[in-house]
Amino acid sequence: MAKTESVQDTCVLVTGGCGFIGSHTVVVLLERGYEVVIVDDLSNSSEKVLDRIDQIVGDDAAQRLTFVRADVADKDALDAVFDEFQIDAVIHFAGYKAVGESVEKPIEYYSNNIGNTLALVDVMRNHGCKSIVFSSSATVYGDPDALPLTEESPKKPATNPYGWTKWMIEEILASLVVADPEWNVVLLRYFNPIGAHASGLMGEDPKGIPNNLLPYVAQVAVGRRDAVHVFGDDYNTPDGTGVRDYIHVMDLAEGHAAALAWMANKTGCEVFNLGTGTGTSVLEIIKAFSAACGRELPYVIEPRRAGDVTANYADCTKAREVLGWEAQYGIAEMCRDSWNWQSNNPNGYEG
Ligand code: WQD
Repeated sequence: MAKTESVQDTCVLVTGGCGFIGSHTVVVLLERGYEVVIVDDLSNSSEKVLDRIDQIVGDDAAQRLTFVRADVADKDALDAVFDEFQIDAVIHFAGYKAVGESVEKPIEYYSNNIGNTLALVDVMRNHGCKSIVFSSSATVYGDPDALPLTEESPKKPATNPYGWTKWMIEEILASLVVADPEWNVVLLRYFNPIGAHASGLMGEDPKGIPNNLLPYVAQVAVGRRDAVHVFGDDYNTPDGTGVRDYIHVMDLAEGHAAALAWMANKTGCEVFNLGTGTGTSVLEIIKAFSAACGRELPYVIEPRRAGDVTANYADCTKAREVLGWEAQYGIAEMCRDSWNWQSNNPNGYEG
């Protein structure tokens, strides 16, 4: 980050800031006093989230937010943003994120996720902004040999193009630091982000049939879908279903704010896991969500889904010790907030 007096003087460009994790992070940044510019093409998000952000943070803080509708791959549009604003750091969320779709559309996934990152860092360099936080994923650990996963755990081959884009973008950003030590890169490896803002005004709003467990469960709870499909009950886990480290999206948002504050005036490349350190099975999630919504949610056992790992969960010691960040919420709160969002917005932002 460029040398700045305080957070109040710091302007952060958030690509994909209208999306699920981006929007929650923007709220936290505005509440901290940052100036924020969102660049989002709305290809998988809704402009309505901007009103919700305004309602949550209030008009004064919302005045520090600017929205630019543009594709991050559009260098002219990005140039205009960097010309207009003194951007100190970038948080790069924008990208395609559906694992299954990435198998069907590898060209689109590689070209969009990698292409937009290359466009972004090129424009950043041209404007002398060399601080970037990247949305990486625990998917880079592949099928782990040992749990919990630390940042030292080996990266494993990805099982789909989406995973490879995260894997490769990490390498690309690390290469920038090797080539030019003025770069300042933080790679945040998210585990499974779920939950919603406690207000019920913002949450996850996938288009079409949800690929991920939580939005699917939430849509069953609200009556949009009949039953949860549990992908495999013959894994080597306590109840046979897959185990993941679910993390509340507000904890994740706080993790970005912690990373931003920590990296100010530094250079180099650092990796942090953002998870809770606790593994939860699919059946435990269904049970917790049933408790949150007050009704036993129906489920059916299906065959395993191709490419799924048995279990993964994080060791978050590094984030705690270096960033001073630790997840605050447990599964019950994640399901409570997710239900609050879904029940107030049964059809998401467009409802
Ligand atoms: C969790 C568990 C499934 C859906 C992926 C990406 C990751 C990140 C999040 C995206 C698994 C089971 C799921 C369903 C089920 N990226 N499941 N029924 O696969 O851990 O992670 O999404 O933006 O990078 O890899 O998350 O929520 O899809 O699955 O039984 O309808 O739930 O088998 O055990 P995953 P998930």
